[in-house]
Amino acid sequence: MSCRTATLLGVVATLALTLSACTPSVGGLSDQPPPPAALAGIPKVTAPGAIAGLVTDQRSGRIEAGVLGREAALTWRTSLVGVPQHDTFNDALLCAARARVNQYGDDDKASSALTLDWGIPVAAGRAFGVRLRTRVTHGSEPETVTTETLYTLADTDAALASPVLVAEASRSAVVAEITTALREAERLPEGAHLDPAGVLADLVVRPDGSAIAVLSSSAGPISGQMPVGVALSAPFLADKLSPEGARVVRALSGQPDHSTSAPAAPTGPAHTVSDTFVGFTPAIPAPVVRAPEPEVVEPVDCATEKCVALTYDDGPGDHTAQLLDILRTERVPATFFVMGKHIALHPDLLEREAREGHAIGIHTWNHPDLTTVPDERIAAEIAATQHAIEAHTGISPTFMRPPYGAVDARVLAVLKQQGQGVVLWNIDTEDWRNKNTETTYERAVHNTHPGAIILMHDVHPYGPDATTRIIHTLRDQGFKFVTVPQLVGGTIEAGTRYFSQHEIR
Ligand code: NI
Repeated sequence: MSCRTATLLGVVATLALTLSACTPSVGGLSDQPPPPAALAGIPKVTAPGAIAGLVTDQRSGRIEAGVLGREAALTWRTSLVGVPQHDTFNDALLCAARARVNQYGDDDKASSALTLDWGIPVAAGRAFGVRLRTRVTHGSEPETVTTETLYTLADTDAALASPVLVAEASRSAVVAEITTALREAERLPEGAHLDPAGVLADLVVRPDGSAIAVLSSSAGPISGQMPVGVALSAPFLADKLSPEGARVVRALSGQPDHSTSAPAAPTGPAHTVSDTFVGFTPAIPAPVVRAPEPEVVEPVDCATEKCVALTYDDGPGDHTAQLLDILRTERVPATFFVMGKHIALHPDLLEREAREGHAIGIHTWNHPDLTTVPDERIAAEIAATQHAIEAHTGISPTFMRPPYGAVDARVLAVLKQQGQGVVLWNIDTEDWRNKNTETTYERAVHNTHPGAIILMHDVHPYGPDATTRIIHTLRDQGFKFVTVPQLVGGTIEAGTRYFSQHEIR
């Protein structure tokens, strides 16, 4: 089957219509409407005009078991993107997406769900990459995640898959380097091998000529938190990039297409491994080697231990840095429910939350009461914030907290369709109302029981100021501190409300 069809043009046209049809329903509200999902997180890009016209298409459906002749029905959800005047690139994206869907359809297991979505892991100068992410769930088995990144240039309709950026003759050397890095980090057993196609499918190239290979479970038997990023230094890659790869680097760094920059001197380590990679390249090239921050998260089994989750809403804000310092000193992981419009002001704080092992959920872009706004506005609030978080951290949250805890059956249905679980709380410090550190502390520790979710805010000083004492008191009572996903055993179901570890409905 040829993927080069005119279908995407039709898709893009349909999307443009769909998006414009949504605009009037949000235009009359007092809050600023969120930007289209595709544009969130773009302020760091040096040439925003290059991707200002992105259009997205979101669809979902269900195929019943009878139609398939299988035991289980399939549900699917896709979010795709189109770039104006980039038909070759759009075709390549659609082709990659179709290949993933076909692979899923051919799978004779009783598959239960497929989710396909996208993000922008790098955008600078005259080039950007689009990452396609496929998540497949088979019944109760762990979800498998596959990612791949394709590149295009702002001024040329190119479509470059990640493996193409490495010269063919050098691909085995790059795979070997990544294998060595993972073995040294004790993430890959001795004797185990990686799948070269999986290893090179998602390369995040940076303007300085370095790159991060983002590996998901499909790359091989890698242990620990996934995805894992292996940073490859610019000197190591200098003589291994293909002409196309060198062209993408020049475009990302804003150099003219015809220039040939001298390769960097071969110094420094060839690779570093990091659990939490920053998937978005700032306009100013980042240092080649990013020292990983100490990890906060330690394994805790909440089925047997007394667990409690500290949660902070409405940030990132003026008190987030102070709070992160406290949490790092105490080695306590927390869960942050962030607002999209605050990410644009404090992207560094969001990146730090992710890097230091905290969990991140969506608290909408503008903080509206979701029960009072139309379905399309709810979807836009979630999607825009989700993309902003992914652009800065590489994490695409699948759980959220509705502002004011306001959720009804209609809101819950829309959130379910957006793939979002709903995290509420059962201990409310009311820090924003009592404006008092002592009262906040008392309310946090007074009724706390195993499995509790405690609500505070990091845009006011009272919660952060009370946090050290809260941690010490609860720790003395034998509590372990965990993120909300850890508290509920790792999985947060879309369309389900979590008030605590045990109150789930
Ligand atoms: Ni809030």
